[in-house]
Amino acid sequence: MCGIIGYVGDQSALDISLQGLRRLEYRGYDSSGIAVVGAGELRTARRAGKLANLEKLLAENPEPDPMPGTTGMGHTRWATHGGPTDVNAHPHIDCTGAIAVIHNGIIENFALLRAELEAGGHELASETDTEVVAHLLEVELAGDPDPDPDPAEVSHPLAAALRRVCQRLAGAFTLVVVHRDFPEVVVGARRNSPLVVGLGEGESFLASDVSAFIAHTREAMEIGQDQVVEARRDGVIVTDFEGRPVQNRRYHVDWDASAAEKGGYPYFMLKEINEQPTALADTLRGRLSPQGAIVLDEERLSAQDFRDVDKVFIVACGTAYHAGLIAKYAIEHWTRLPCEVEMASEFRYRDPVLDRSTLVIAISQSGETLDTLMAVKHAREQKARVLAICNTNGSTIPRESDAVLYTHCGPEVGVASTKTFLGQVAACLLVGLYLAQVRGVLYGDEVAAYVERLQRMPELVERTLGRLEPIRELARELADAKAVLFLGRHVGYPVALEGALKLKELAYMHAEGFPAGELKHGPIALIEPGLPVLVVVPSPRGRANLHDKIVSNIQEVRARGARTIVIAEDGDVAVEPYADHVIRVPETTSLFAPLVTTLPLQVFACELALARGLDVDQPRNLAKSVTVE
Ligand code: F6R
Repeated sequence: MCGIIGYVGDQSALDISLQGLRRLEYRGYDSSGIAVVGAGELRTARRAGKLANLEKLLAENPEPDPMPGTTGMGHTRWATHGGPTDVNAHPHIDCTGAIAVIHNGIIENFALLRAELEAGGHELASETDTEVVAHLLEVELAGDPDPDPDPAEVSHPLAAALRRVCQRLAGAFTLVVVHRDFPEVVVGARRNSPLVVGLGEGESFLASDVSAFIAHTREAMEIGQDQVVEARRDGVIVTDFEGRPVQNRRYHVDWDASAAEKGGYPYFMLKEINEQPTALADTLRGRLSPQGAIVLDEERLSAQDFRDVDKVFIVACGTAYHAGLIAKYAIEHWTRLPCEVEMASEFRYRDPVLDRSTLVIAISQSGETLDTLMAVKHAREQKARVLAICNTNGSTIPRESDAVLYTHCGPEVGVASTKTFLGQVAACLLVGLYLAQVRGVLYGDEVAAYVERLQRMPELVERTLGRLEPIRELARELADAKAVLFLGRHVGYPVALEGALKLKELAYMHAEGFPAGELKHGPIALIEPGLPVLVVVPSPRGRANLHDKIVSNIQEVRARGARTIVIAEDGDVAVEPYADHVIRVPETTSLFAPLVTTLPLQVFACELALARGLDVDQPRNLAKSVTVE
């Protein structure tokens, strides 16, 4: 939610910022803007709408280099305070025109600060919460310099001023600041919002995520909570908000710029759907030791900790929540532990019963979702142990958790999650099996048998993707439908929810997912002639009666005129008499079926949205990483 890039080095800050913003645009596309410091001036350019509008504005400038300078920053916005207008676009500047600020997050006490600034004679131009920071910095920098500076203190005055300002801010923020008179430095700060450092040769980067600078350096450094970073050409200095130096973890990014490019596909989403066999294989790779233990990436939990667990909570949002719902079926079945799945945004307000024996699994692709982060913090305050399942190395949620299992799916740029959903489901299955194993509920050979079947899943995913042309055709045919219902039972129910979410976010179409058995308790009233109903059918070889029950449900909706589109396993002939269309998927173990049944639903939503002429990578109103509550 909002993308940020800051740069200091020898290259054109304008070019680096534009390049970074192209990679970050998935984080928000309500407006974009750039600030560059050079030749004793601070120049800014900003425009409402997608980045293309800003690029057009810059191209219209007759100067060969409209923003000369090698220190600067860029911002792409997902609007919170103030509509998506030119005036509200970042960067925001102070009264003197010397300081520019970009921001991701929400400054909760901005109204008070604004009133204070206005009483002091400051004129603020925008409706944003961000602008107060530029003016507060102006006040701080105009104040008396420290009469007795500590000679050991090497901090830049801009960093010192930002620290003092941060101490006055409530809420969540990543801030990046440049100053006309300080071309040697770009300063950043963070609290509950993402910020990473890129360490290049003679250049440094600050960004919301590594994709913004991956074309220049793969060496990165995390920035912790309540820290200020001063980036210079020759490296960075990091302190806490009180000015105490801190040492942060450095890491090497294990993918390169090509992974964050479209690679010949017209949309990232199409590429990412097709990358799912590899993404799934990467999640599973190296996870199981010869003894059958799950290999956690950063482990602060022992096998004994897992044995001590008496209850599991899963917290997540959106698609990740759906992965959690699937995990519940597997974890309860394999471990006999009670497992509750909760939307992260509701978790801490419900006062859940947590203690040292509770394992909280937090699932998040970005590792930055603020609702999930707050749930993690709440769980840890209540002494629960937290295991993160995450796709983004160096992000906040894994750092705030006791242990992390990375999904290793590579960067996901399309706003709608696809390959990382599969990675999340697979990681949850691994955790379930590990819990069952260490607690002795499943024998080693039973775990091994599941693992063996799990290892075959990437190949089944590949096969499924290869036979989805019929659902593509159907999606194109249904492009004008008003609504679509999705039904499922058992693990097919979260898959139905996921199918409906994909269709809502990509095609802006009314779509709902229901447990098929729940239909007759109300939603069946929605069925009218011609309404497309997609049904995720469990394996006929699975739980007794489940398959028969859903076949009855298909008949019920068809009898009322629905157009039934049935996702069924190879060889399941029982559905045929009641299905207007059958989409076949390969046979799998029941608990692993979502890894294949989700695929036709992703493709359906994507194709239908494309048929409606929509941008599937950047659906309206959305952002990839939701860093506000
Ligand atoms: C839907 C989608 C969102 C995310 C949700 C959580 O396609 O992408 O629903 O799943 O915002 O995001 P993460 O996993 O980053 O916490």
